[in-house]
Amino acid sequence: MSWLWGRSSNGFGGRVTAEEVTDDIDASGLTAVVTGGFKGIGFYTARTLARRGAHVIMAGRNLADGVAAREGILNDIPQAKVDIMELDLASFDSVRAFAKEYLNRDLPLNILINNAGVAMPPFTLSKDGIELQFATNHLGHFLLTNLLLDKLKATAQSSGIESRIVNVSSTAHMFSYGGGFRWGKLNEEQGYKKFMGYGQSKLANICHAKELARRLKEEGANVTANSLHPGAITTDLQRHIGFIRAISQVFGCLLKTIPQGKSQGAATTCYVALHENVKGVSGEYFVNCNIAQPSSNARNAELAKRLWDVSVEMTSKS
Ligand SMILES: NC(=O)c1ccc[n+]([C@@H]2O[C@H](COP(=O)([O-])OP(=O)(O)OC[C@H]3O[C@@H](n4cnc5c(N)ncnc54)[C@H](OP(=O)(O)O)[C@@H]3O)[C@@H](O)[C@H]2O)c1
Repeated sequence: MSWLWGRSSNGFGGRVTAEEVTDDIDASGLTAVVTGGFKGIGFYTARTLARRGAHVIMAGRNLADGVAAREGILNDIPQAKVDIMELDLASFDSVRAFAKEYLNRDLPLNILINNAGVAMPPFTLSKDGIELQFATNHLGHFLLTNLLLDKLKATAQSSGIESRIVNVSSTAHMFSYGGGFRWGKLNEEQGYKKFMGYGQSKLANICHAKELARRLKEEGANVTANSLHPGAITTDLQRHIGFIRAISQVFGCLLKTIPQGKSQGAATTCYVALHENVKGVSGEYFVNCNIAQPSSNARNAELAKRLWDVSVEMTSKS
């Protein structure tokens, strides 16, 4: 079980909390956007960044949840700088509106955490006619990142501090369709397997970060892009998967937790977003706060380039 909980090369094991990995970090002066920040891992990520002094913008689709999330953080950390903004990643219009409003506010942007996700719903098309998991988990974040990229670069240049993009993926990326992606059939109901569709979208998160990292390095931008698996945690994510929820209730002791006060589920995200050890590291995949090796598809640079081109085409259609 050492791969689950054991201490590893940097001293952080699978049971470390977000609070512990960021213990000595002063993030005041940094501004971060956390998608899906109103609930689950995203909420605990936002709260930890806020605890370390960052100005955090939590982005989500249900503003009533956002108000409650913001209050929850302020009750715990009265001095926290937290705001909420509306963002539906399954709608290109909403992503564009969010980016426009963000840029209009003239805020800096040091950290973009692409965390929001949906897992294994029955076949559904997004408002733009795209399979929901690919639309939400990958394309929405792909478009959002592109629209905020100049802001991330400009903030890095004016502050002299590296900007970071963090994609929350999953070990489920290993269980995608054969060859990785259903090229040409991404939005077809026939042949859709909800588990593989989730794996495909999580593979996309890793490929996106890798290709983005390559491009950023090539142009010499002071911006990094990495991806990670946060661990297995019981959250609303399992709402469409009865058997996984049942297993997690029986074997809950094997899972990471996100209880009040301590969050193991947000540890790797906060580590990759804030820790000094990750300075200059780009294009990597992290598990339990350490660089890990993802699947062969996730290491395939050609696949990542193709995904990039397909994603540009799909996000520029509507
Ligand atoms: N939990 C795990 O065991 C696990 C394991 C591996 C990877 N992950 C990854 O971790 C990330 C966070 O998952 P979680 O476990 O914290 O799940 P969660 O509690 O269900 O949180 C997911 C968040 O994403 C938001 N979201 C979903 N669809 C959205 C959309 N169209 N636009 C904007 N926001 C949307 C949700 O908002 P609503 O409440 O409005 O739906 C929610 O705030 C996901 O990327 C997931 O794939 C989780």
